[in-house]
Amino acid sequence: MIKAAVVGASGYIGGELVRLLAMHPEVEITAITSRRYAGKKVHKVHPNLRGLNLRFTNDYNFDADVIFLAVPHGESMKIIDEFLGSAKIIDLSADFRVSLDLYKRYYGEHVKPELIDEFVYGLPEIHREEIKKAELIANPGCNATAVILALYPFKGDVSEAIVDLKVSSSAGGRRENVASIHPERSHVVRVYKAFHHRHEAEVIQETNVKAQFTVHSVDLVRGLLATIYFKMETSEKDLYKMFFRYLKEPFIRIVKEKGGIQRLPDPKYVIGSNFVDIGFAYDEENQRVILFSALDNLIKGGAGQAVQNMNIAFGLDETLGLSYLPVYPI
Ligand SMILES: NC(=O)c1ccc[n+]([C@@H]2O[C@H](COP(=O)([O-])OP(=O)(O)OC[C@H]3O[C@@H](n4cnc5c(N)ncnc54)[C@H](OP(=O)(O)O)[C@@H]3O)[C@@H](O)[C@H]2O)c1
Repeated sequence: MIKAAVVGASGYIGGELVRLLAMHPEVEITAITSRRYAGKKVHKVHPNLRGLNLRFTNDYNFDADVIFLAVPHGESMKIIDEFLGSAKIIDLSADFRVSLDLYKRYYGEHVKPELIDEFVYGLPEIHREEIKKAELIANPGCNATAVILALYPFKGDVSEAIVDLKVSSSAGGRRENVASIHPERSHVVRVYKAFHHRHEAEVIQETNVKAQFTVHSVDLVRGLLATIYFKMETSEKDLYKMFFRYLKEPFIRIVKEKGGIQRLPDPKYVIGSNFVDIGFAYDEENQRVILFSALDNLIKGGAGQAVQNMNIAFGLDETLGLSYLPVYPI
């Protein structure tokens, strides 16, 4: 059994990690940490986890083969020294995902720059071989995962793309913030960030595409949809071929139907799963390619992808503990 610890387990990603790890056949959870809720049972914070015999601790002296850091960006780099060398580390924050140059451009100063190159970018569909040998894994951002996986087949052919993102409230974490209380957040289609969203940095690094994000908060609790636009002379048939590379990927589904309820990706049909649904349309008259990419931000966009990385890094079947289908209807 792999002994796993979750640091920052009181947050949304931490809670989802605990849920997934508790169902994983090869994992024993040895510690879940919280500074605010130390000593409390897990269901006091995550009511869906009632029945799990786990309590939060703020003691970092635990026994683990893998440590998930599910703390806000800027915090992982401050606490990582506590854990280095004791276990494999999978960091879900943005602290070690991109080069120092990109980090400075999008986030600011870094307090552990010497560690950035030690981390492998944990997007299995692109970096599987490196993840197999990795001790330190930087789990990608949720928006970045959706956009990179859709754009990656065009690497080298496309230099710029406009990206419209519609994101759910859980993507912002479990913090107190007036903009997120129910009367303010419900029914919104709010422009959250018109340009220069931080996840652009990961897309630039992984695809060489200058992706320009506009991010909207929409009335969903989980899930996101990325709609990506660029110009290219191609055809529907050739676009299909571009995505053949994903045919063997266990967590990528190509969604392009002529009829039915779902013709192109919609987050509604991936919620609760580790799938990312990718689809496309081609406007022949204007030579405009439109890609669509939908995922559950807390699973393929976060905790599920982290478990996928753990499976790869420990030589397990990549889908172990992750092969559930989406919840429907939601
Ligand atoms: N939400 C998403 O959809 C999503 C997707 C992918 C990646 N991520 C990334 O995953 C990380 C966690 O996100 P989240 O949405 O779960 O955030 P969150 O709900 O705000 O939870 C973060 C938790 O980290 C703990 N924490 C904060 N500072 C800490 C410190 N210095 N030392 C130890 N623990 C600390 C807090 O717990 P206590 O105060 O109880 O200790 C808090 O509950 C973030 O870096 C985020 O960017 C989020």
